[in-house]
Amino acid sequence: MENDFNPFLERGYRSPVYFCDREDETKLLTDYIVNQTNVTLFAFRRLGKTGLIKHIFHKLRSDKNRVCIYLDIYDTVDKSEFINKLATAIYTAFPPKNSLGKKIGQAIQSFRPVISFDELTGLPSVTIAATQTTQQNNTIAGLFTFLDQQSIKIVFAIDEFQQILSYPEKNMEAVLRTQVQQLQNTSFIFCGSNQLQMHEIFNSAKRPFFASCTSLNLTRIEEKKYKLFITKLFKKYDKSITENAVSFICNWTRRHTFYTQYLCNQTFVKSGNNITEENVKEVASGILQVQEGKFYQYRKLLTKAQWKLLTAIAKETQLTQPHAKTFISTYDLGSPSLVVRSLDALVKKEMVLHNIGVEKPYYEVYDKYLMRWMQSK
Ligand SMILES: Nc1ncnc2c1ncn2[C@@H]1O[C@H](COP(=O)(O)OP(=O)(O)OP(=O)(O)O)[C@@H](O)[C@H]1O
Ligand SMILES: [Mg+2]
Repeated sequence: MENDFNPFLERGYRSPVYFCDREDETKLLTDYIVNQTNVTLFAFRRLGKTGLIKHIFHKLRSDKNRVCIYLDIYDTVDKSEFINKLATAIYTAFPPKNSLGKKIGQAIQSFRPVISFDELTGLPSVTIAATQTTQQNNTIAGLFTFLDQQSIKIVFAIDEFQQILSYPEKNMEAVLRTQVQQLQNTSFIFCGSNQLQMHEIFNSAKRPFFASCTSLNLTRIEEKKYKLFITKLFKKYDKSITENAVSFICNWTRRHTFYTQYLCNQTFVKSGNNITEENVKEVASGILQVQEGKFYQYRKLLTKAQWKLLTAIAKETQLTQPHAKTFISTYDLGSPSLVVRSLDALVKKEMVLHNIGVEKPYYEVYDKYLMRWMQSK
């Protein structure tokens, strides 16, 4: 085993061994894929959307009649870059070893691409010079249609999908919606980390994607399952951890997956082989110390009123009634209209998450470490 090996991933996906639960969601999403139902995956940031997609694609690897293509468009700024990402993802998914791969390679060649290879990773990158709108739309349609006509099923997962809203070309949603509607053997999973924008695309009656997909809301991993996963994974690497320590991890990070994983990751590195609650608390406090600089940066970027409200929300942990008189007066937050404006800004800036997918909607500070730091002040 490598020395720096850590079973608690702070990013990416490795294999089912390092992935906790999500059994129901995996089954549901796999069924949707098999039935060719298009899906939008909603969840607040850093809860495990990308991980879940990778997990499902990993499971579907053995299905030789289906090819899963993952596309992260976060760093694309316009339609032309989207096309390059799409072409690269397709090119990568079909290595030219077999006849289908060759055929797809030839189809991509017909768009006169430049194919280059990264010097370090050896990964290919396809650039297609399409500048005119018609030419671009034809390329998108051409790539999707060609694949759709082969004797296989295709699944596209487009991650950070809200990025298309920032393209200068305003018809991107309509162009893609047309494709999604017309393809026979292709299904889509759309997912994105900006919930406001994702809701705008899929739940706004005025927009092309409205009512076009089934939505799946990802929530926190169940407490019992997460605790068992953590205990077992430490044990697998010959580390014991007390029940109290595991409870502390889950509670302190509120089972917000990234924050839970990272605390486990750091505990794994720093806490020896018999881990107690005290050990975990030390690690947690170390994380807050390291991140303090970032927290002060946040404070600089927010107005005084926003920072004050953010602190108040942190102290409440979960806030259901931000406009209640007692809340406003307890934390001396000024006029109700100022609270409304500040809260709106904090949600837009994704400093605060607004969970509306539960019986009693609530607000919570996004970054669990920032939340705990504010509580300790
Ligand atoms: N079920 C899981 N079991 C263990 N680790 C997980 C699980 N789901 C996600 N993770 C880990 O949690 C972290 C955040 O997950 P991921 O990147 O999938 O979230 P995301 O919702 O896509 O985030 P973002 O909104 O920033 O795109 C990653 O380190 C990932 O490895
Ligand atoms: Mg993601």
